[in-house]
Amino acid sequence: MAKTTFDTDSVGTRKGGQLRALADLLPYLWPAGRLDLKIRVIGAVLFIVASKIAVVFVPILLGRAVDSLGALSNTSPIVVGAVGVPVGIIVMYGIARIASQALGQLRDAIFARVSQNAIRTVALRTFRHLHALSLRFHLERQTGGLSRVIERGTKAIDFILSFSLFNIVPTLLEIGLVTAILLGRYSWTIALFTFSTVAIYIAYTMTVTEWRLKYRREMNRSDNEAMTKAIDSLLNFETVKYFGNEAWEADRFNSAMRNYEEAAVKNTSSLAILNVGQAVVMGIGATGALLIAAQAVVRGSMSAGDFVAVSAFMTQLFMPLNFLGFVYRQIKQSLVDMEKMFELLDVESEVKDAPGVKPLKGGEGRITFDAVNFSYDSRRPILRDFSLEVAAGTTVAVVGASGAGKSTLSRLMYRFYDVDSGSIRIDGENIADVTQGSLRAAIGVVPQDTVLFNDTIRYNIRYGRPDATDDEIVAAAKLASIHDFIMSTPDGYETVVGERGLKISGGEKQRVAIARTILKRPRILLFDEATSALDSRTEKDIQQSLREVSRNRTTMTIAHRLSTIIHADEIVVLDKGTIAERGRHEELLTRGGLYATMWRRQQEAAEHLKALEEAADTGAVSPIKRVSETVPGE
Ligand SMILES: Nc1ncnc2c1ncn2[C@@H]1O[C@H](COP(=O)(O)OP(=O)(O)O)[C@@H](O)[C@H]1O
Ligand SMILES: [Mg+2]
Repeated sequence: MAKTTFDTDSVGTRKGGQLRALADLLPYLWPAGRLDLKIRVIGAVLFIVASKIAVVFVPILLGRAVDSLGALSNTSPIVVGAVGVPVGIIVMYGIARIASQALGQLRDAIFARVSQNAIRTVALRTFRHLHALSLRFHLERQTGGLSRVIERGTKAIDFILSFSLFNIVPTLLEIGLVTAILLGRYSWTIALFTFSTVAIYIAYTMTVTEWRLKYRREMNRSDNEAMTKAIDSLLNFETVKYFGNEAWEADRFNSAMRNYEEAAVKNTSSLAILNVGQAVVMGIGATGALLIAAQAVVRGSMSAGDFVAVSAFMTQLFMPLNFLGFVYRQIKQSLVDMEKMFELLDVESEVKDAPGVKPLKGGEGRITFDAVNFSYDSRRPILRDFSLEVAAGTTVAVVGASGAGKSTLSRLMYRFYDVDSGSIRIDGENIADVTQGSLRAAIGVVPQDTVLFNDTIRYNIRYGRPDATDDEIVAAAKLASIHDFIMSTPDGYETVVGERGLKISGGEKQRVAIARTILKRPRILLFDEATSALDSRTEKDIQQSLREVSRNRTTMTIAHRLSTIIHADEIVVLDKGTIAERGRHEELLTRGGLYATMWRRQQEAAEHLKALEEAADTGAVSPIKRVSETVPGE
């Protein structure tokens, strides 16, 4: 079965593991249709080889220089002055040094475009993918953890590319070249000794680093946990205050951070063990090689220059190996991080376009729910055998207790979830058999809880149709009865609404949401308690506009306050996932069932409220809290 869930903390759950992650990365480095990048890759490889060839010449030339100086020191000072310093060799030595550095830098410079392009492409793909995943996935995920998966994943790619390809591979190349030169030019004993020292060094580093890895993992895990907790806690800032739970939040954060502290301390102390061991192996290796070389010099099979060259080779070889522990660990970690990100890319959306589906045809907008059964969790059915027909251009209101499944209806229509059985059709076409894009373009939703982007009001309204003109935005705002409010703010349409829109009130937010849906001009409208946060006066104003907007558009209104839906062509009372009653307002009233009871209760509440308000006006009762938002009858 396709994987539709994702655990930000688990590691190595992907088949094929890290090797597969590396293989998955390759296409991004050799992108189809990007000849320029492919040339860069080839150029970088050539530069690696060239710079390493230059590198191994450095000790050889140094040895030569020593030898020619040795030859000079045996002749008289007058001749030295005449024959001169071995300028040629020393200059070549200088050139080799410069070349090895410069070629290395050039390699980085021309490869940067390739690796940065790969990073951007993978990040973009992940971002697109996240938006393609289903609502259920996003409701279950942890935002903090998820964004860190992407952040770490892209960093990992950067690291793997810049270090593994440009540190590990060149170093291995250098080890091979040096061994070959030692073998060919000097003595096989030194070559063997050097090679085994390097081998032991590498093996030791990898083993110890492997053992240390658990501390690093623990650090990451607790870091993740702490960040997730911190973000969740800050998002709930107000709630924390309402319950005075700052200390409790701090405790939770602290316990995660304490785990991090423990792991970080162990991580650092184990690094000391690694470094000391490396120094021992390196020291013994260098001393041994020099002892062998010294013996050879004494025996006369090697020159003093050769001795210097061997010494220089040893120093030079171990220089990049100094970082091996760090590089090995980072690469292992990067592989884990990269695997994690690719794992995220493997998660399949629960709601998918079937292969070869066509866009929804443009019809009048008749909606049919046909024997729909649905549950979020198979243990608890939400909709049972729900059937409803909304004729094109008419308005159907759905009412019912909170939790009855009203919002679920709109989520199913918008195909945030697929029905378990039965079907939803628009003009006879099953919504599961058309593209999600075309379906969603046809429907405008004003959701129950509106969240706005942390940008200006103009931006948030324009979101409904990015190519709308400013005049159209104002017209939509007027229809949604929000224009006057906007004009009363100091910054007008440029007012920034704050994160999630928290700097404007719930009612204002709802009206912004209505305005942007008006701007979208969809064929079908879904209002999910779209005016629930408004006071009754504003709600009346806006109802008028909404009726205007929904004229000739198929509209499903989910309502809470029954007074707002008395004009609906049909009213459906949803109870426990099925339709308990249906009909027009007057019919339902005379029937004396659920609807009539709800109506009576709300009327009584409204009268009670009115009495209170009047009393407050005349000063009989202090202007107590307005309870207009709490309407019994849910
Ligand atoms: N994503 C979800 N996962 C599980 N249960 C859910 C989910 N969304 C809603 N529910 C439950 O389904 C029931 C119907 O929800 P909803 O349609 O939002 O009710 P309402 O009629 O108040 O709009 C509620 O009891 C709610 O708790
Ligand atoms: Mg609801």
